[in-house]
Amino acid sequence: MTNAIATTRPEGDEDMFAALVAQPADALLGLIALYRDDQRTAKIDLGVGVFRTDDGRTPVMRAVKAAEKRLIHEQTSKSYLGAEGDVAYTDLLGEVVLGPEMARSDRITGVQTPGGTGALRLGAELLKRARPNATVWIGTPTWPNHGPIFIEAGMAVRAHRFYDVASATIDFDAMLEDLERAAAGDIVLFHGCCHNPTGAALSMQQWQAIADLCAERNLLPLIDLAYQGLGDDLEGDAAATRFLFAKLPSAILAYSCDKNFGLYRERVGALWVQAPSPASIAVVRGNMLSLARSLWSMPPDHGAAIVRTILGSPVLRDDWMSELAEMRGRINLLRSALAAAHPDLAFIGDQRGMFAMLPIGADAVVAMRRNSGIYMAGNGRINIAGLTVQNIPAFVAGLTPHLCNRMPMHDG
Ligand SMILES: Cc1ncc(COP(=O)(O)O)c(C=O)c1O
Repeated sequence: MTNAIATTRPEGDEDMFAALVAQPADALLGLIALYRDDQRTAKIDLGVGVFRTDDGRTPVMRAVKAAEKRLIHEQTSKSYLGAEGDVAYTDLLGEVVLGPEMARSDRITGVQTPGGTGALRLGAELLKRARPNATVWIGTPTWPNHGPIFIEAGMAVRAHRFYDVASATIDFDAMLEDLERAAAGDIVLFHGCCHNPTGAALSMQQWQAIADLCAERNLLPLIDLAYQGLGDDLEGDAAATRFLFAKLPSAILAYSCDKNFGLYRERVGALWVQAPSPASIAVVRGNMLSLARSLWSMPPDHGAAIVRTILGSPVLRDDWMSELAEMRGRINLLRSALAAAHPDLAFIGDQRGMFAMLPIGADAVVAMRRNSGIYMAGNGRINIAGLTVQNIPAFVAGLTPHLCNRMPMHDG
């Protein structure tokens, strides 16, 4: 009966949605389903980009649980906040990200956003108003959502070279050569730390050269900082961001708390902008708020309230920092173990963050899934936190036939 109703099309009815083009399904979500249905017990999931413990869980952090308990008792209202979200959250977080002094600058303003994605989208909408004819330059490879976020906001996007997968190195000369083509007023997107998908980190000397290039050519840096504390430490992972903000009159920072507080589905982020003068930043803030109002009216409260509660309590803050250090320690331990397990993986030891790109083709990715039950993104990106010290040998055994420079066989 239900089907008969659904398929009966009234006469003269037009398909109002005929102009829509069918969209490909999200590849990583497809991978989750494939992994779930795989009956092999020794299967390894390196696909989805969430932190995992040694026993494969993505836990709620201790300080988050404690803050949630406090909120249940202490929160007296769920009435509306403004489009800027939780101001105490943005103020406390600003100190963690930018350092106490810079966070108080009268040329910098920040608002809460729904995750890092919301921060990037709000930044993109702001740029569409501020610099409608500018191009956003994005390094390759990058997080697959970067391009669509700016394109959907109506910005022109161009790729610049960044990382050479085969040699597992940043091609800095090629990057600078491509960025020489950027026009004055263009925007360049940078990963502040823990590059997704490569894990490759620019040196401070290279950041200096980038700051010089931005200053000389009048380029606006937009930094995406989604993994602070999961690379070297909280301070070190923010160093490049702080450096660019200090060196350049204007800069944008899209921030996510979803990984370093393990709050993924709560959608916790923030967008900071630095302008050349207090008068200019006041106008910027007004535009951020009016755009946020039309995008989501106000950001979801719960996750930001958790972060505010943690950062506002010395005890919870310390516990968050020590659990974050444990998470980082686990990732870096796995990086060292991988680097030691095969000479072709040595590069992974020097990189940082949750991801690395294996120097293998798409056919090898499929073969590893079929033959060894090892799951990863189609471009060869692995989530290091999906490994354990125990399953690294099985992972390396599944990978080795697909590496080009295999270890020479011993004579005899
Ligand atoms: C580089 C990068 N930026 C931003 C984000 C978005 O984070 P969120 O989940 O907070 O929207 C991600 C998420 O994977 C990411 O990897």
